[in-house]
Amino acid sequence: MVAENLVNTERRMLKAMLVDSGKNWTLDEILDSCNWQDQAVAVGAGQGLANKGYAEVNEVVSTEVRLASQGESAMNEGLLEARLWQWFKSTDEATMANMQQSFEKHEAGPGIGLLKKLGITMETGKFTCADEAMVEETISARQKFLSDLPSKVSDLDQQLLEQFKSRRNFIELVDSTSRTWTLTKSGSQVKVGDLVETTMVNEITPELLQSDEWRDVDFRSFDVTLESATPRTGRSHPMQSLIERIRHIFLEMGFSELVEDYVQTAGWNMDALFIPQDHPAREMQDTFYLDNPKSMPLPDDIMETWSDIHRTGGETGSTGWGGEFSKETSQKGLLRTHTTVNTIQYLAANPEKACRMFTVDRVFRKEAIDRTHLPEFHQIEGIIMEEGANLQMLVTTLKTFYEKMGYPEVRVRPAYFPYTEPSLEIEVKWRGKWLELGGAGIFRPEVTEPLGIKYPVLAWGMGLERLAMLVLGLDDIRQLYISDLEWLRNQPLI
Ligand code: PHE
Repeated sequence: MVAENLVNTERRMLKAMLVDSGKNWTLDEILDSCNWQDQAVAVGAGQGLANKGYAEVNEVVSTEVRLASQGESAMNEGLLEARLWQWFKSTDEATMANMQQSFEKHEAGPGIGLLKKLGITMETGKFTCADEAMVEETISARQKFLSDLPSKVSDLDQQLLEQFKSRRNFIELVDSTSRTWTLTKSGSQVKVGDLVETTMVNEITPELLQSDEWRDVDFRSFDVTLESATPRTGRSHPMQSLIERIRHIFLEMGFSELVEDYVQTAGWNMDALFIPQDHPAREMQDTFYLDNPKSMPLPDDIMETWSDIHRTGGETGSTGWGGEFSKETSQKGLLRTHTTVNTIQYLAANPEKACRMFTVDRVFRKEAIDRTHLPEFHQIEGIIMEEGANLQMLVTTLKTFYEKMGYPEVRVRPAYFPYTEPSLEIEVKWRGKWLELGGAGIFRPEVTEPLGIKYPVLAWGMGLERLAMLVLGLDDIRQLYISDLEWLRNQPLI
């Protein structure tokens, strides 16, 4: 059937137009024949018929003049000059003082000017009019002008139009489109019998599905290729959405989230992780040390433990780093350089209970800003501490995570961190290249034994922004944080 793809309003309109298939239909005629009140319905149906090739829309844009607020009140209360004229004619004393008594100040003021322009002038203290007929004619022309509104600009007296344009808020000019519709050839060939209105469903509801009614109804078809305006609504920043997605993945994999401060001591950020006190990454040029708090007191016993481990290896069988250990250095305040500072404290507080923890949070390093570096960025950190945890499990966990993120090709390569053995680098394949996304490993005895940690600890720390670059296809990390609204609006849902 020809008209199968038509919605009911289109069927009705087409049917109405077929009564006189050569006619150019106006909006009013369509509304009338279709028995509609709402012109939007007619315009929508007409557009639908046009999109499907049954009708042609002829649009004429014209400027319409409408009453504005002052014009409306002039229509309700009378035009000021008309009221002034009434007063002039009925008073015996057409003096200024009398007028000021009969009219309020905001009318009396402009009133004088209006009268003057109409040819009513002041002579020896009284208003006098030379040509009364002319004044009446002018006033009634003005009244008629207003009462004829709304009208098309082209239908109006241009002089009066200018006159009212110069008066504040009397009239406004609005562009309006008027449409007429004609049938196309294929429109005029449709058979009226094919245009029966049916019950069309344009929304699939749970009720409909449950009731079995869906078997017998007609579904409205939508043309998803048509142009439409994209609604501008608020949405999460892509980084926030990405963090949410990562959270979900880890929660789904049985991890719990750890959220901690980023102001920390060098002791927990480095010493606890067996990073030697003379390690280059601890230098001022790599780490943001704080002026306030410049130092944060740490319990002496924990610093003694680190001191032993660092100098001699303590009782772990390690030889340590040798040299001196400074407790003052341990107590320095800094902005954490990695989220491992928080996992290690969690383990110190819960050394015996098997756990799976993750963190997605901010870290700070003194990096010069460039295409791939920022001084503030985020790490995706995680640990698994449980009996029998091993390297295989670590690699599988990381692979599973990236697979869930949509990157199934993951490989690990040997690496070095002072606190893990073995240590790995994690790489993901993206557009044919292997990209390094983070580090991982199993915590060394120098880290775990002094804290009384019972089981092996698998740990990793990965860059969130690096991953975001892959997900969003960026080659400049700065794009993530420059608040470029146009770019933000066009980002895919993550
Ligand atoms: N903390 C390391 C980094 O900042 C990553 C890491 C975490 C490595 C845990 C091994 C184990 O790059």
